[in-house]
Formats: sequence, structure tokens, C-alpha cells
Amino acid sequence: MAARIAVLASGGGTNLQAILDHFASISNPAGTIVLVASNREKSGALERARAAGIPSAVFDAGDDGTALLALLEDAAADLIVLAGYLKHIPESVIRRHHGCIINIHPGLLPDFGGPGMYGSRIHAAVLASGATSTGLTIHFVDDEYDHGPVIAQWRVRVKIDDTAESLAERVLSAEHIVYPRVVDLVAALNNAGLAANF
Ligand code: GRF
Repeated sequence: MAARIAVLASGGGTNLQAILDHFASISNPAGTIVLVASNREKSGALERARAAGIPSAVFDAGDDGTALLALLEDAAADLIVLAGYLKHIPESVIRRHHGCIINIHPGLLPDFGGPGMYGSRIHAAVLASGATSTGLTIHFVDDEYDHGPVIAQWRVRVKIDDTAESLAERVLSAEHIVYPRVVDLVAALNNAGLAANF
């Protein structure tokens, strides 16, 4: 049976869209998105969910996790996919869904990660460092920002004339190809009773 996936997003939701499009394009996706939840009422991800006919919800991310836990429980979510979700996941949620929460970060962790490292700040820091490559990291979520075990990374070359914007664009394009496939992979492993143990 397909894993029940809840997607948490704060922003535009292009990764959510990429996952929806990928699942619609393959014959036997290992998961199905049953909920899109956001801490921001104006999140584009919520609009995308509505357009796709997927239940969506806004919740208070400032509590101890009670609101989010209730949503996940109602949706009977097996897997939680963070796609541009900018808030900390409360410990209660991590404890309850340990090994079943994944995140994507637009940089090569452990570099350029941690609190305050998001969006264009990451790409500006990469350029300032003189690094010749950057990329994306998909990892399990634990109780530290950008810290849990790495599932996949993809490197993206830094070009001599790159700006933070051009770099952001190329990394995001790579995210749209890699994340949907990794979500499907993690869902397949969970369905086979091989959820991560760490
Ligand atoms: C992506 O770059 C993702 O890696 C980061 O936030 C961005 C979200 O973009 N965590 P979108 O909302 O999926 O368009």
C-alpha cells in the first residue's frame, strides 16, 4: 500500500509541485500525498494543494507540536516531507515520527547549514567562500537544524559569473528532479518495513 505522505511547506511550494507531478507521471508511486500543511496562510504550497484537490491546513507552529501532531494523526501520515518548511520541528513530533521525516536543503551539508542559513543567504555564503561547487542535501530530520543523517546529495557546479540568484535557480532545478525520486525511494523503503533506524 502506498505510504501516506504529509508535506509541510512555508513558501511557494515548487518542490511540492515537482513531487505531485512526478507521482502523477509514474505508474506505481510508493506514496500518495494526503495532506499539505503550512504555518503560513499565504503559502503558495497551499494553493497548489487546493488546485490538486489535496487536503490542506494551516497550523500554529509556535506551540509545542500539539497542533501539528493532531493534523498528522488525522491524516494518518506515515512519512513527513519538508519542502521549504522554515520552522523548527518540535521534539514531540520528532519523537513520534522518528526516522520518518525528511528535509531538503539547498546546499551541501554539513557546510552552509544551521539556523539562519536559508534561501539566498546560503547561495551568497557559498559565493563568498569561493567554493567551486554547491548542491542539495536530502536528510532525515532530527532535533538539530540541518543535522540528521544524509540520504542523498547532488553537486551543482559554481560558475565564475554566478550570482546568488543564478545559483539558487540551478540548485532549485536540481531539487525538482532529485527530491521527488528520493521521496518515492524513502516511501518504498518504509512500505517494505525498512524505515530508517538511527
Ligand atoms: C528549496 O530551495 C528548499 O531546498 C528549501 O526551501 C526552498 C523551497 O522552495 N528548503 P519551494 O517552496 O519548494 O519552491
